[in-house]
Amino acid sequence: MATRLPTTDIRIGTELIRRRKGGTPLVCLTAYTYPVARLLDPHVDLLLVGDSVAMVLHGHETTLGASLEMMIAHGQAVMRGSARACIVVDMPAGSYEESADQAVASARRIVDETGCQAVKLEGGVDMAAQIAAIVAAGIPVMGHIGLLPQSVEKDGGYKIKGRTDETIASLIADALAVEKAGAFSVVIEGTIEAVAADITRRIAIPTIGIGASGECDGQILVIDDMVGLTVDRVPKFVKEYADLRGVIVHAAERYASEVRSRTFPGPDHVFADSKVFADSKVLSGTHGGDDA
Ligand code: KIV
Repeated sequence: MATRLPTTDIRIGTELIRRRKGGTPLVCLTAYTYPVARLLDPHVDLLLVGDSVAMVLHGHETTLGASLEMMIAHGQAVMRGSARACIVVDMPAGSYEESADQAVASARRIVDETGCQAVKLEGGVDMAAQIAAIVAAGIPVMGHIGLLPQSVEKDGGYKIKGRTDETIASLIADALAVEKAGAFSVVIEGTIEAVAADITRRIAIPTIGIGASGECDGQILVIDDMVGLTVDRVPKFVKEYADLRGVIVHAAERYASEVRSRTFPGPDHVFADSKVFADSKVLSGTHGGDDA
């Protein structure tokens, strides 16, 4: 596996994440690409290569568009772009639900081919056998309970969980099952606030909230939502810390205008001296020559 950043021994491991229970909140974000991983790595504890990549980068309607190959390719990119953060790669729908054996084989492929620290899968009581088997195979697992994006078609949409006694009981049972199965942490997504806070007090592993509660042991957001790059629906629980949509649209408008008016390329962006073409360094950078 190619690594473009220097290998370090400072990568945060899953045990360190587990020990952060009840401490300074864990800072987590999704990342799918090399440049974004490089930018985020110094600022976060954990980067999740979420199967939301299928929607965010590939334009699928749901996360069901993610494949094992897609997750591995993005996992490799994020590993190349990070040196410090704990990297967790999502197991896509269809890669683990069938049996514990299927789950272990898929998890092993993800870890072997990316070098990530852990995998994440969705489900509680119903996926406890899969979590236990992957953990027994020596691969750390992050759980994911509450609103499960891989099940939204089955559930009839993005529905907040924990509004009834029955769903509260089932969320608590899911959290306890994930903990008992050996997960090192659990994402709680899209629940009533008090339910996520209650679960956080009940279990000994860190809870990572998204649309859940400020009392969770950490928070996670989808990176494109957090930087204001999401072009479709922005969920209510998202806080946009930047306006990258505006930045990109403004840059595209200026670029289009300068190309049409022949203002770009200007003297600084062309090779004025024909001798440079004889120089073997020319055209050796990412997109061409880098001589000043
Ligand atoms: O795929 C993803 O981005 C996720 C987060 C929403 C937790 O699972």
